Amino acid sequence: MDANKGIEFVCIRVDSRLEKNEMTSRTLPSTPSLGVCYYPEHLPADYWAADFDSMREIGIRLVRLGEFAWSRLEPDPGEYRFSWLEQILDLAESKGLSIVLGTPTSAPPKWLVDQMPDMVAVDANGQRKGFGSRRHYCFSHLGYRKECARIVTRLAQALGEHPAIFAWQTDNEFGCHSTILSYSDAARIAFRVWLKNRYRSIDELNQAWGNVFWSMEYRTFDEIELPNLTVTDPNPAHELDYRRFSSDEVDTFNRLQVDLIRQYSPGRAILHNFMATFLDFDHFKVSQSLDAASWDSYPLGALTRLKVPEAHKARQLHLGDPDLAAFHHDLYRACGRGRFWVMEQQPGPVNWAAYNPAPHPGAVRLWTHEAIAHGAEVVSYFCWRQAPFAQEQMHSGLNLPNREPDLGAFEVRQAANELSQLDFAPSIPAEAALLYDYQAAWTLAIQPQGENFDYFTVVLSFYRALRRSGLNIDILAPGGLDGYKLVVIPPLPIVSPSLVESLKKFKGQVLIGPRTGSKTPDFQIPVELPPGPLQGIIPIKIVRVESFPDFVSLPLVWKSVNYQCYSWLEHIRTELQPFVQLTDGHGIAYRNGNITYLASLPEQSLLDKIVENLLNEEGLRFSEIPSGVRVRTRGQHRFFFNYNPEPVRLNLPPETKFVLGGDEMPAAGVTIIERG
Ligand code: GAL
Repeated sequence: MDANKGIEFVCIRVDSRLEKNEMTSRTLPSTPSLGVCYYPEHLPADYWAADFDSMREIGIRLVRLGEFAWSRLEPDPGEYRFSWLEQILDLAESKGLSIVLGTPTSAPPKWLVDQMPDMVAVDANGQRKGFGSRRHYCFSHLGYRKECARIVTRLAQALGEHPAIFAWQTDNEFGCHSTILSYSDAARIAFRVWLKNRYRSIDELNQAWGNVFWSMEYRTFDEIELPNLTVTDPNPAHELDYRRFSSDEVDTFNRLQVDLIRQYSPGRAILHNFMATFLDFDHFKVSQSLDAASWDSYPLGALTRLKVPEAHKARQLHLGDPDLAAFHHDLYRACGRGRFWVMEQQPGPVNWAAYNPAPHPGAVRLWTHEAIAHGAEVVSYFCWRQAPFAQEQMHSGLNLPNREPDLGAFEVRQAANELSQLDFAPSIPAEAALLYDYQAAWTLAIQPQGENFDYFTVVLSFYRALRRSGLNIDILAPGGLDGYKLVVIPPLPIVSPSLVESLKKFKGQVLIGPRTGSKTPDFQIPVELPPGPLQGIIPIKIVRVESFPDFVSLPLVWKSVNYQCYSWLEHIRTELQPFVQLTDGHGIAYRNGNITYLASLPEQSLLDKIVENLLNEEGLRFSEIPSGVRVRTRGQHRFFFNYNPEPVRLNLPPETKFVLGGDEMPAAGVTIIERG
């Protein structure tokens, strides 16, 4: 592949709207900005000024730093060395760059771990994590929390009012390297307290968990262990509560820092950088204490880990999955209550996936525009310079280890230039919504009842079906549904009474995935049988479920086209007639007014058709978009992204007003038109 092909090298004229004044105002700028992750502690101090100049020159206005620098901020216990950081902040201020300061708590120094060896997390096999990488702490360890409070307080007291500090990032990627679930003594003690608060009496807990089964009854809360090292599966209710508890621990850990930053660094936005496809804690809940959500987007690395056919992975190797980043933009816009950033954007090959291809020429630019089309306020690249040493020496940056610009830098420059020419109005309201629920993911992971039933894979296929319509999509935590024409509920085993009430009042179409309503909050089968409380909106009862391996498919014909379902099949007792049936007559889709329930997992093309039908019923025209092209509307602009590794032609009316690009889209091309 010719890596330079297709990139337009333009000289940037930095638009005045992206100038310093706006960025240091302590409020987020009204136009999107570009940023970069920078590690001044890796470099001699005399590199910093030149680096800042080069950043400005390619259109970067925000710099995130500090999140792994504890050993340089406090090399010995109580010996604070903040002067280098202050120097960097002064320099940034003088160069018109704004700083996002990371709290350094994801990389505690060796002396701290030696002081409190039990502060590290313990894995499910009872093994303590060691020092020598990062995230070596347990969220429940009170001593470590105290140390975090101390370093954050000191940092925020010393530098929090510095004019260059525009925002803060708490810690770094909670949960990265599977670090949420800890089976430590600290976690056990905290879990018992959490259970006592939830159940009040041990009898109630025994009842809720069904502990009479296998003689698992407890006499006191102090007898309860963490759900690891059991001979066979632990009680799923025990596991679910442990997941809820572990998620709450992240929230508490984060809030501690947020409260201190608010106290000593007022007026700055506080964010955390969440990880894509990561489900071990509730991102909606942790976001509540933040001002905006942010996430780290590595489209090529993430594709390698998706459960999708190999042919898809091969085709999208250099561009990424066309719906995965979009899904997360929509998710984090919801977490941030309308406000989100991309804190880390892949700039070139990464180092951590099973294989690490390079982005297609133009892909870094495409990913940038796509984030902004979804409403991102900031897109920040990871990282400025490829580190020549340590674990990430094979991870690219915008610059090579010798400080020459790498290919990503040219695309950033181009994107910055293009963005400076656009006017950004707020996003238009979405017409379709998808409910996303971390508890659903835990429930299905604890009891998959078929090893290939994967929550995220199913959610993504529902999202894809919506996205192919060309509509803007909102992702919602289960709750209010007003204003949408279509709401999709992928599997949601535990359904709250308030959601059922919202659904009763909801006038648009509702598409409900299998396993919804199949569990009570105590992880039991509802007495009225699944779908439990949903029987108030659709009169069906699930009396049996079956699961199948990948090599079995469930064939059917619908509207004269052959399709198949896979993995999952529910046997439904009802007076309703199915409107989609397997070839053997087994019903897999039922309707009651505006409510549609799926009793199996349809292959993508069938799901697309079902969604298309529902949208048509709501009078929403299904846009004709070429395969592999994705669309999003922001304000007056309609963006098209070509995720195909070959050119495509858009079929647009002759009067179309092009803002960027045209109807002939190269691979990785971006076209923006005026919305008619
Ligand atoms: C992220 C992390 C960064 C860096 C990056 C490499 O998960 O936040 O510190 O490790 O991955 O892709």
